[in-house]
Amino acid sequence: MTFDLDRIRAHFPALSLLHDGGPRVYLDNPAGTQVPREVLDHMQTALVSFNANMHGNFRTSREATAMEERAHEAMADFFHAAGADEIVFGPNMTTLTFMMTRVLGPLFEPGDEIIVTHMEHDGNNTPWRRMADDLGLVVKTLPWSRDTYEFDLDELDVLITPRTRLAALNYASNILGTINPIPAMVSKLKAAGALTYVDAVQYAPHGPIDVQALDCDFLVASTYKFYGPHQAVLYGRRSVLEQLRAFKLRVVPDVSPNKFETGCQSLEGQAGVLGAIEYLQWLGVAMGSQHLQATPGVPQRTAEIHAAMIAMAEYEHALSGRLIEGLQSIPGVKVHGITDPAAFDRRVPTVSFSRPGLDPAAVANFLDEHGVYVWNGHSYALPVIEFLGLQDLGGVVRIGPTHYNTLAEVDRAVELVSDYIAAH
Ligand SMILES: Cc1ncc(COP(=O)(O)O)c(C=O)c1O
Repeated sequence: MTFDLDRIRAHFPALSLLHDGGPRVYLDNPAGTQVPREVLDHMQTALVSFNANMHGNFRTSREATAMEERAHEAMADFFHAAGADEIVFGPNMTTLTFMMTRVLGPLFEPGDEIIVTHMEHDGNNTPWRRMADDLGLVVKTLPWSRDTYEFDLDELDVLITPRTRLAALNYASNILGTINPIPAMVSKLKAAGALTYVDAVQYAPHGPIDVQALDCDFLVASTYKFYGPHQAVLYGRRSVLEQLRAFKLRVVPDVSPNKFETGCQSLEGQAGVLGAIEYLQWLGVAMGSQHLQATPGVPQRTAEIHAAMIAMAEYEHALSGRLIEGLQSIPGVKVHGITDPAAFDRRVPTVSFSRPGLDPAAVANFLDEHGVYVWNGHSYALPVIEFLGLQDLGGVVRIGPTHYNTLAEVDRAVELVSDYIAAH
């Protein structure tokens, strides 16, 4: 089955907007993707037809409550969680993670140890370090190799001790693009009795997630990175969530997910997430049917979403290959991440580069003058940029294609980078 980009792009109204009369090229996707019309339709319906708070005894409130339940069920299928009670919505990953540090903190004692990797976005770094400071915990850091851009799992073995209580793990790096071996990491940590908290914010837009197969205790993703609105969703293992004392108001029932979603939630945001899931289901059926397989115990919606993700990843490998090859052909440019096409199943298509003397902000501004949107700087992955030695040099230029981008768009970005370098 061909990956029909015209049909895909027709779902995204923003892709046909113009930049000074020319096309807009969105390569800022690791920071946030554009949304398909399914998301807009659901958000409009929520705001027009049942714009009410939940759990009231009147029609619009009942409809709002039903939609909120459907959004939780949809995200349970997205993660292949065991049930909707394992799904907690929040405004963004960072807020959910700070909340979880407060909720998990009472499980730990001074001198207990936590592991944080050196590949984290600060959203999965500072919250745990603040918790450790407050509680007198020891923080150990898992490094990555500057040669392979990957972890050496033997080094994880060295860090794990009988006092390891929790590990914060990056699923895919927002700078390097590396996809980390989460199942192997979780299995080592679980054997030591530690909880695992996986940051899947950058992986979720590019690969199928199965929390039951990963066997992690927590996993978090931000829906605005995978075609939804600004919302984030935390998966938590039911048996762990049940034990946790949430910071909730007295009137809120002491059950999950309600006890973690205290205060009025974004109804329109959750409706938009439903739209994003519907879009992914459409993609899975329309473009990924060769990957659709009925597996006992796996809901049809999960199978359709996973088929979409596999089809997207296959296509995105072509985008990564073209982008990396193009950038590497420019004299002096260094791509920071896996570049071997044979290893593309261990990276997402996010590609960062630098060049001695090149100002990443100036490159991003130059591309913007031509309607091509990319990020520059550290993108909040401070330890990664520091380890690359680029913190005082403006960080990197990050070009992040996703499944709706064309090869021609990638070529255009490379051409502009090349032109800029040739002229300076
Ligand atoms: C890997 C990773 N983790 C966490 C975050 C933070 O996400 P949020 O903005 O939803 O807090 C980001 C945002 O870019 C990210 O890339």
